[in-house]
Amino acid sequence: MNRRQFLASAAVLGSLPRQLIAQTSMYRLRAEEVTSQVLPAGDGTTRMLGFNGTMPGPELRIRRGERVAIDVENRLKEGTAVHWHGIRLENSMDGVPVLTQKVIDPGDTKTYSFVPPDAGTFWYHSHHISHEQVARGMMGPLIVEEDEPIDVDHDITALLSDWRMERDGTLIEEYADRHSVAHAGYLGTFARAFFSRSEVSVGDRIRLRLINAATNRIFPLALSGAAGRIVALDGIALSQPRPIDQLMMAPAQRVDLILDVSGPIKLDMMSRQGPYELGALGTAGTNDTRQPAPIAALPAHAIAAAADPGQHLTLRMMGGAMGGRHGGDNIWAFNDVSDLQAAPFSSFKTGETAKITLVNDTSFPHGIHLHGHHFYELDEEGNTGDLRDTTLVFPNQSRDILCTFDNPGKWMLHCHMLSHAVGGMRTWVDVV
Ligand code: C2O
Ligand code: CU
Repeated sequence: MNRRQFLASAAVLGSLPRQLIAQTSMYRLRAEEVTSQVLPAGDGTTRMLGFNGTMPGPELRIRRGERVAIDVENRLKEGTAVHWHGIRLENSMDGVPVLTQKVIDPGDTKTYSFVPPDAGTFWYHSHHISHEQVARGMMGPLIVEEDEPIDVDHDITALLSDWRMERDGTLIEEYADRHSVAHAGYLGTFARAFFSRSEVSVGDRIRLRLINAATNRIFPLALSGAAGRIVALDGIALSQPRPIDQLMMAPAQRVDLILDVSGPIKLDMMSRQGPYELGALGTAGTNDTRQPAPIAALPAHAIAAAADPGQHLTLRMMGGAMGGRHGGDNIWAFNDVSDLQAAPFSSFKTGETAKITLVNDTSFPHGIHLHGHHFYELDEEGNTGDLRDTTLVFPNQSRDILCTFDNPGKWMLHCHMLSHAVGGMRTWVDVV
């Protein structure tokens, strides 16, 4: 193309809506096999899957209200698809094979393009054979930046996961054995937090974005070396920062903290055998310019306030080991139905608000995730609680959620313990 032709096509571009040209940021994610140092340096490396040569994949930082285009190139030997977890995007970009797109075949590239409406902490992961592809490493942080930067010295991401591996770092290629699927799911033999930074200074104020990217593991966490507040859950700002008295994260959940650093920071998983160190942030020097100040709320989200529900539905989790019988044809079921069927769990008119009672009739906890929306958790008295995209329900408990289905399309609703999802605990809703 000569220079003149270039100018001519630029003029054509000029007639497109301005926002599309000026503000589209572009990314390229290559899904590929990688070798990663998951175990401590000096121990073995792990052959696994990742993006752009790394596991976790690169942290994508995009801006609220601005269009992003992400080319996903499949260099794997099998099909894949990428889901942008928690983003309220258009249905065709949700990354769910069968429901919203065709699988990206080996050698093919698909461009995902969307405008993220909420600033916050999100993540991306494979949504094809996901119990296996995520367990093999197909995950990465997706950060939607606020319009104005938050007043902190460092903005740090910590992605948590676990892997089932031998002592030398070799993955144990057993992702869906019946026993795990019927119990708490594939659980790793090694767990770790990947921090986006290794050092801070005493006196710093930091934002710490925790992402539980594990396929099945619930992380009860303890943090030392810093004190502060929880400022967001599942990417959505809390209207009031909240004390950190307990940190329990189901798979796929995110927690944003604002912390004042008093010493080296340690993030531990609490277990019956005592604390298990997931990761640490060392300290170098002292920050004596930062003035003490209360921790303010992050800018408010733009999600509609809770409205009165029309329909009231029940979604009953059934099956698994030590569970009752159910009519579904897999290990797990919702309302006697296993896996994605032609008929949705329910249909909603765009804009309709519904209450759904999530009943856990099984012997295991489940983290239930709805695509394309955030929903309010309700407490026992029916009071509106936090906005989430994934909610954890323990055995023999139930939780009411309230959701305004304002995003048209076919959206998955499933357990984010990915072993349970592949074992049948998945359905979808149709917003028409
Ligand atoms: Cu995090 Cu159905 O996905
Ligand atoms: Cu589950």
